[in-house]
Amino acid sequence: MSTQAHADAPAATPYERIGGSTALRRLTDRFYDLMDTDPAFAALRAMHAADLLPMRESLPEFLAGWCGGPRRWAEANPGKCMMSLHKPFPISGKTAGQWADCMTRAIADSALEDSEIANALADVLTRMALGMAREGMEQH
Ligand code: HEM
Repeated sequence: MSTQAHADAPAATPYERIGGSTALRRLTDRFYDLMDTDPAFAALRAMHAADLLPMRESLPEFLAGWCGGPRRWAEANPGKCMMSLHKPFPISGKTAGQWADCMTRAIADSALEDSEIANALADVLTRMALGMAREGMEQH
């Protein structure tokens, strides 16, 4: 896949390949819209505060840094890790599965520019969410 023309160009990050902050906002807004309105995600929705606005701000920032873009979430949360941050929440296999399904649907609905990265993102976020379930956490 590498060609001479690309030899000196820095490799595009996943962040750039999916369409940057605009795409991540579209994706996370779709995620919280689905969580807020689809009864399939009612148990997951019930765990969150009534106001999802702070989440609509922080999730795209976290995902940006995580995909190789600006690291604003890490800078605002020094030393914090997403897995330990979720330890206080009573996450079951059911709610972790709802998070993963909701995110997979949001990714599919968001027409990200690069489908290879979109699929990889759905895959790795699903594994991360399932790892947050109580039964997963106990291994940490
Ligand atoms: C396993 C399923 C998950 C459940 C049930 C869950 C639930 C929650 C809850 C209840 C909060 C507190 C927010 C509020 O009270 O409104 C929260 C915060 C948050 N979650 Fe999750 N979460 C899950 C997975 C994930 C994953 C996989 C990610 C990232 C890829 C993530 C990213 C975040 C972020 C960015 C925050 C806000 C933290 C902050 O910036 O202070 N969550 N989550």
